[in-house]
Amino acid sequence: MESSTALESLRQRLEQLPDPDLGRTLGELSAVHSLQLRDGRVELYLELIPPLQWVARHIEQSCRAVVEQVLPGAELELYVREKEVPRPLPSPVLPGVTNLIAVASGKGGVGKSTVAANIAVMLAQSGARVGLLDADIYGPSAPVLFGLQDAPLAARKDEQGRVIGIPHERFGIRIASMGFVMQRDQAAILRGPLLAGYFMTLVEQMDWGELDFLVFDLPPGTGDIQLTMAQRVPLTGVVLVTTPHELALADLRRSATMFRRVNVALLGVVENMSFFRCPSCGHVEHLFGEGGGARLAQELGIPFLGELPLDGLLQRAADEGIPAALHPAGAHVREYFERLVERLVLQVRRINAERVQTPPLELSL
Ligand SMILES: Nc1ncnc2c1ncn2[C@@H]1O[C@H](COP(=O)(O)OP(=O)(O)OP(=O)(O)O)[C@@H](O)[C@H]1O
Ligand SMILES: [Mg+2]
Repeated sequence: MESSTALESLRQRLEQLPDPDLGRTLGELSAVHSLQLRDGRVELYLELIPPLQWVARHIEQSCRAVVEQVLPGAELELYVREKEVPRPLPSPVLPGVTNLIAVASGKGGVGKSTVAANIAVMLAQSGARVGLLDADIYGPSAPVLFGLQDAPLAARKDEQGRVIGIPHERFGIRIASMGFVMQRDQAAILRGPLLAGYFMTLVEQMDWGELDFLVFDLPPGTGDIQLTMAQRVPLTGVVLVTTPHELALADLRRSATMFRRVNVALLGVVENMSFFRCPSCGHVEHLFGEGGGARLAQELGIPFLGELPLDGLLQRAADEGIPAALHPAGAHVREYFERLVERLVLQVRRINAERVQTPPLELSL
């Protein structure tokens, strides 16, 4: 076949390949950045919607199969990079972070910090660069969950002489917590605006560097921190955590309404402590009600990201400073977080694809 004709038919075939998460073809997503034939080798540059870690291998295999069909025996050199996603706010903060995900709940104690820590772990396990920002002033959790109590925060000065904190690193995750920048008993006497100030210190005066994901572990409810975050941090979206209890579900509905009002995308609902599996007989019991999280997700018109078991290991892992998904005895729990993160990443890619397609309007004077 004439090489230019071969190249053209290769391009057409590649552009017909679907992105499995997005239900659109690489052509529709303008993903084929360049395609060349050089000394019998095919050089293909793709630009895909981030994050890439979960989908790149699948797309690579489909591309290899197409090259093999159109130009049998030709070698494929594939280069993949991420498309730039316009931010929902024209915000100068966290310029090096691609996906900003908040973990929120209406009611306290439903497992936000546990979910946030294990989401961060599973994201990092897939090769993504991940940070965890613990914004809970009343009971900072990240230091405990990651065994970092009493670890002093390192700092340096930037070119303007400002002090910049350096996050801790644990299990490949960069971690900073309100617990590192303020005293625990200070929280009770601080008023809203000051709390929001501390929160912004963690956002603006930390050297987060380049990250694929920054996960925000929020305090419960809809207070100053949540509002400040919604107004000043260009979030990808928020994960809503609940337990099956009616009260937790009702409070979550209120939180969801507040986030919608301030234009934060809802990524989905996670139901924690959904069921207990008897370790000896395997019997599954839904202790606090069944299906409430999924029903609420449906009512809100957002995805249900999954159930998590009520399991003593989550508590034990926290006491030992190792997130359950990484705990040597945690394989059975890890599975749930793995699936949860797969569904979450799918939503993140869908939102990013929408933002690439229809960038948010920016007002300019
Ligand atoms: N699925 C679970 N099974 C057993 N224990 C759990 C589970 N999820 C969380 N826990 C435990 O419940 C307690 C509360 O969890 P966690 O701190 O994650 O909740 P939270 O929503 O972040 O709370 P807060 O609102 O105070 O920030 C912790 O002791 C945690 O170890
Ligand atoms: Mg918490």
